[in-house]
Amino acid sequence: MTAENKTFSAGLEGVIACATQLSHVDGTAGRLTYRGQKTVDLATTRSVEEVWYLLRHGRFPTPAELFAFTDEVEDLGALSADEYKLVKRLAGTEPMSGFRTALSAIAAHRGYTSWLNRDPAETYDEVAALASLAPAIVETLYTRRRPRLKSSNTGYAERYLWGLVGEQPSPQAVAAVSAYMILTMDHGLNASTFSARVTCSTGADAGASLTTAIGTLSGPLHGGAPGPVLDMLDAIGTADKADAWIAGQLKAKRRLMGFGHRVYKTEDPRAAKLREVARQLNSPRVELATKVEQSALAALQAHQDAKSKAEGKPGRALRTNVEFWTAAVLEYVGIPRTHFSTTFCASRIMGWSEHIREQMEGNKLFRPLSLYTGPAVEWDAPVEAPPAPQPVQ
Ligand code: ACO
Repeated sequence: MTAENKTFSAGLEGVIACATQLSHVDGTAGRLTYRGQKTVDLATTRSVEEVWYLLRHGRFPTPAELFAFTDEVEDLGALSADEYKLVKRLAGTEPMSGFRTALSAIAAHRGYTSWLNRDPAETYDEVAALASLAPAIVETLYTRRRPRLKSSNTGYAERYLWGLVGEQPSPQAVAAVSAYMILTMDHGLNASTFSARVTCSTGADAGASLTTAIGTLSGPLHGGAPGPVLDMLDAIGTADKADAWIAGQLKAKRRLMGFGHRVYKTEDPRAAKLREVARQLNSPRVELATKVEQSALAALQAHQDAKSKAEGKPGRALRTNVEFWTAAVLEYVGIPRTHFSTTFCASRIMGWSEHIREQMEGNKLFRPLSLYTGPAVEWDAPVEAPPAPQPVQ
């Protein structure tokens, strides 16, 4: 649709709204890269800190830099006594609402202000400090206990998991969470990253940009899907019931969680990697999840084929997205399903931080147009302009 020679794209589909050096999603080929590195390779060969450092600096850290960076993130990740009290008051609320509110309250308590007319590096430090708090915020919200130092130079993924399971996790479980966090750390201009950049583009403070992004990630069409994926597996129960259950959902015009993606026209590479991780973990869900995935893909394909025949245009390719296998992996390592979205948030917050930095470095206020579809107005003929005032003699 066009108006005044401008094209309207619902949901900004297909629109390029910013330039970034951080990540590239090739939806046709099913490829994802961070700073020119294959993300699926990073997932099982690098730590979360190495990948965050890569996004930040465009290169991997040396061993000494990595040690120092891990320490820095750990130090920044400690809540002060007052902040702990603020967060604890939110324990028991819905986890993503609690996380969003806690982070916002901490930013207010710290007195963070607009980055305009200041050195953007100061605001970036504030953003990174807030992002580093994610494991401690989630642990406090879940356990009400004040997070203690886990052990010196403990990585982000291990601290996050430790906080939720209440004991030192196994190296295998830490590796699985680390792979998950690396795979989901950044993903082009997804909805939550876009909202972080929009808020940042107005000159808003560090807390405002991150809080906006958390709110956007919380929706089930974005980061809220893996909990419902597990609910779906529970509802199906056994592999022999998968076909009928899925057919029923599609007949009722319900969405199958963990399938479909705006950008990927083929398999989401993160889904393929997490399927591999789930199989290596020997997660008891793997058998059922594999059957459900096969049934869902076949049913979605048939559904799209029928639709395309009826409408005479090619149907949308609906394939497995990252959230489907996330559910099996996070459940196996002991993360409660109520906290799948906060786990996603604890990982994507590093990507948001780098996008906020990029936005500040080359800021242009986001201000698109809207296509007016309301009633037309009858305007009077333009009034003749009054004569220009004459200079006083
Ligand atoms: N199950 C059933 N039908 C689907 C699904 C699905 N999972 N996904 C899309 N469709 C159908 C829609 O019903 C729609 O059909 P219609 O034209 O007859 O109304 C058509 O495909 C297009 O749907 P849109 O929402 O316009 O497609 P879009 O590409 O914008 O949506 C989205 C992408 C939101 C992820 C969608 O596929 C979906 O809702 N999936 C389920 C939720 C999910 O898994 N979310 C996590 C995404 S991954 C992430 O954000 C990290």
